[in-house]
Amino acid sequence: MPIAMKNATTADEVLAALRAGDFSHEALRAALLMRGGEQEKLFELARECRDRCFPDKRVEVRSVIEISNICRQGCRYCNMGRKRDYEHYIIQLPAFMKLVEHIYRSGRRVLLLQSGENSAQSFVEHVALCVEEVKKRYPDMLVILCLGNLSRTQYHRLRQAGGDRYILKFETSNPELYSHIKPFDKLDRRLTCLQWITEEGFTASTGNIVGLPGQTLDDIVEDLLLIKKLKLSMMSCSPFIPAENSEFGDQPMGDLDTALNTMALLRIMNPHTLMPTTSALEKVGHDGQYRGLMAGANTVTIHDGTPEDLKQLFPIYSVSRVRPTQEHFEEIVHRAGLKM
Ligand code: 5AD
Repeated sequence: MPIAMKNATTADEVLAALRAGDFSHEALRAALLMRGGEQEKLFELARECRDRCFPDKRVEVRSVIEISNICRQGCRYCNMGRKRDYEHYIIQLPAFMKLVEHIYRSGRRVLLLQSGENSAQSFVEHVALCVEEVKKRYPDMLVILCLGNLSRTQYHRLRQAGGDRYILKFETSNPELYSHIKPFDKLDRRLTCLQWITEEGFTASTGNIVGLPGQTLDDIVEDLLLIKKLKLSMMSCSPFIPAENSEFGDQPMGDLDTALNTMALLRIMNPHTLMPTTSALEKVGHDGQYRGLMAGANTVTIHDGTPEDLKQLFPIYSVSRVRPTQEHFEEIVHRAGLKM
């Protein structure tokens, strides 16, 4: 049999296995390597799974406010954190409510509050008061928190304040790699936090980074299996970005196709969940966020919440980070056959 033919058969077999819900390590590994026409078929299957569960073809639109850049972690891939020298800020309540008012008036109903990891009680209490105020003024605004590892009591407080959802990515399911990329943290601790978040009643999200220095294809397969096992209703995957001024600043970028295939597999394995097309995809390759939608994503995050003068102070990924606008999303969502 000609090689091309044999490969085509193999890819079709893998796709048939995935369609049948056979998520063996081998099938997932083979699917991560698909490119060209095979990759197109993988994406088609992912879209089929998404559109079956979300027949209205609507994407969820989130507005993000980067409420503080203070971070006590020391992640090697990040340019904020305890070892970095940068100007700190915390957005205070009156300024915060002005931003929320602007976002609400633009018609947005999903607010994502992001910050560095800061478990100081005063900071967590500040965020809780902000959430309470949002819920009091705009009861139909959904609030998603992305604040990192906290104590169980702190998660409880934030949930009681009205936080609806919480994003805590485990980044990698390989415990040694985790300790290497996050020297001040442990994978076990991260997963315990995720369990607390769920038990406190948040709708929880987790996910990984693809292309971390030292990560193997088998690690990514294990990430996929862990996300499935956790049975959450949101998930995400972003390609690794070598952020300037981070310890990994001179490492190669994550591979866009591997990240997109990871997203497609996440969709096939967890069809009912929400999954963003992240700005990191746009940074790594041309039309990255459009391709993320074609690989099964159904959520977009608009950067209209953080004030201009503070954006440079939240340089996550890169100082030249792509901060997608409403117009950008309208165009790619339409092109992908979806609706905002
Ligand atoms: N490359 C890719 N993803 C990153 N994140 C942070 N820094 C990077 C980077 N350099 C992602 C992590 C984190 C989320 C807030 O942003 O997955 O959980």
